[in-house]
Amino acid sequence: MDRYAPLRHRTIALVGLMGVGKSSVGRRLANALDLPFRDADSEVEAAAGRSVADIFSELGEDAFREGERRVIARLLEQPPHVLATGGGAFMNPLTRALIKSKAVSVWLKADLEVLARRVSRKENRPLLAGKDPLAVLQGQAEARYPAYGEADVIVETGDAAHHVTVEQVIQALSDHLAARPS
Ligand code: S3P
Repeated sequence: MDRYAPLRHRTIALVGLMGVGKSSVGRRLANALDLPFRDADSEVEAAAGRSVADIFSELGEDAFREGERRVIARLLEQPPHVLATGGGAFMNPLTRALIKSKAVSVWLKADLEVLARRVSRKENRPLLAGKDPLAVLQGQAEARYPAYGEADVIVETGDAAHHVTVEQVIQALSDHLAARPS
């Protein structure tokens, strides 16, 4: 019997802070489960014809958030897939409600020091530009953890390699679905 079959019935939405691996883990998870992969940030970029950083600087964060909400609503109408959301997406109450009703949500969680180290390697995140990553992440954790805590499944990733996290996510989802088959 295919142990992954029950995991293919609903979209799996990954939520959590910047740098936790939503996109890289999501892509590998999709591969492992033989599901399509969608990245909300990339879809917003495609729809806007510019990068997330350019959307923030040229159109403003509110425009990005509105685009993000619309894109995720559209993706959630598609057949089951693995969806990597941007770190702020689950903070929108409409998006959160939609994800809850149409997907199974997984909060990928890691120590802020680990995330700060990872995000420092890239310059592409507008919310970090010119700021101390750890301080930004601490502020976001305070504001966002209550909402992320509403996810169906929480996976503490530590600093593990992505393929290890993928196995953890599969196990946690299998346990969750076995407890409440739907
Ligand atoms: C954001 C996270 C980013 C991106 C945008 C805003 C946030 O996505 O959506 O820069 O508010 O945390 P990642 O979580 O994939 O870095």
